[in-house]
Amino acid sequence: KTVAIIGCPFSGGQPKEGVDEGPLKMIEYGLIPQLQEMGWGVEFDGHYRLTDLRPAKDPNIGKLKKPLYVSRVTHNVAKTVESHLRRRQLALTLGGDHSLAMGTVSGTLAVYPNACLIWIDAHADINTPESTDSGNLHGCPVSFLLGIAGKVPGFEWIKPILKPEKLVYIGLRDVDPPEKILLKKHGIKAFSMHDVDKYGIGKVVEMALDAVNPDRSLPIHLSFDVDALDPSVAPSTGTPVRGGLTFREGHYICEAVHETGSLVALDLMEVNPSLADEASVFQTVTVGCSLVRCCLGETLL
Ligand code: ARG
Ligand code: MN
Ligand code: MN
Ligand code: MN
Repeated sequence: KTVAIIGCPFSGGQPKEGVDEGPLKMIEYGLIPQLQEMGWGVEFDGHYRLTDLRPAKDPNIGKLKKPLYVSRVTHNVAKTVESHLRRRQLALTLGGDHSLAMGTVSGTLAVYPNACLIWIDAHADINTPESTDSGNLHGCPVSFLLGIAGKVPGFEWIKPILKPEKLVYIGLRDVDPPEKILLKKHGIKAFSMHDVDKYGIGKVVEMALDAVNPDRSLPIHLSFDVDALDPSVAPSTGTPVRGGLTFREGHYICEAVHETGSLVALDLMEVNPSLADEASVFQTVTVGCSLVRCCLGETLL
């Protein structure tokens, strides 16, 4: 078993600098030897030189900021994820902001068209170019993947192959009003923090898997935005929202996904080591590494 680590130092989908340092820090904190100790072969080709792809000119398209940069980067990431999956490696993408998921999920669906997508986040990231208030593309990847974003120059490469019934969210608590309408309109299953409180994380994960992967045999792409965790657990992130997943709830999701034996691709996104003090950075980066380890099979006993 081999995991390919795709380090994506990219911040173009949102305005705060530093989120591009996330993957560098996770590697620096020893993620590779940690995974090797667990028996994984690790292929790491070095961090992606994504700034090479930055266009000289990149005017807004409507409200969308840095559209050309984001489209180029995500297209490249899609091809990289795809090539690793074709070699039957597990694709682990370290972000970087969550716009990268346009690429990672596209790569997964190119190889595993029947894959389901489990999105762990405080946010739904389903804004369309019309509905986005911020214009930040990290709030929009899901609408592009579903094919409801309309035509945006540069993004023609994205095939709208994600079906709404293959997507499930856990952890939501900061969903924009137009996003709520989209979730309802497309009948997308979503478990908010209210549901986590009501049912407990064990039941929520079971219901989420039942919704998109009833017999647990379909390939799973897990896209984990670290801001799904409570800011007391993962403070160093660009858009923290109070009332999030506890340390254990976050890890439980990863353990349960590992137990299915069907994980093919994992994103760990939005770690921003330039936000907050040194202790908070340590806390956030180490929790990121430990979520990855749980997804790859680390157990408590
Ligand atoms: N909904 C807000 C927006 O569209 C926030 C999105 C935050 N996304 C994230 N990946 N952290 O800008
Ligand atoms: Mn490689
Ligand atoms: Mn988020
Ligand atoms: Mn997100």
